[in-house]
Amino acid sequence: MIYVSRKEHFNAAHKLYNPNWSKEKNLETFGPCANENWHGHNYDLIVTIKGSPDPETGFVVDLKKLSNLIRNEIIERLDHKNLNLDVPFMAGKMASTEILAQEIWKILIDKIKSISNYGMLHSVKLYETPRNYVEYFGE
Ligand code: NI
Repeated sequence: MIYVSRKEHFNAAHKLYNPNWSKEKNLETFGPCANENWHGHNYDLIVTIKGSPDPETGFVVDLKKLSNLIRNEIIERLDHKNLNLDVPFMAGKMASTEILAQEIWKILIDKIKSISNYGMLHSVKLYETPRNYVEYFGE
């Protein structure tokens, strides 16, 4: 099994805020991410495909096709957007890195099949900061 990854980048604004809680509890729980008037992060998204190489190309997945897929399906919907307000697939959800990674997985899981007969989605790794990141493996 070979694991092939592509890294893409986007900037987005968000706020972590649970409307059922008091302002104090939100600030205590989410710190600066609860800032009422939003703030931004520079996100790095790493999508990993696993599989065996296609004997005709030697590729598990064509990385150009993977890059185009991630850009068209994910980056265009998130880059320079407000995750709480501008992104339909995040509507009504907490704009945490965890939830965002799960939603990205849901969008990509079937679409990977259209670009590769030999690879399948293995993981979505999402960096909110250079030191904080989450990984989702679909379970
Ligand atoms: Ni934040």
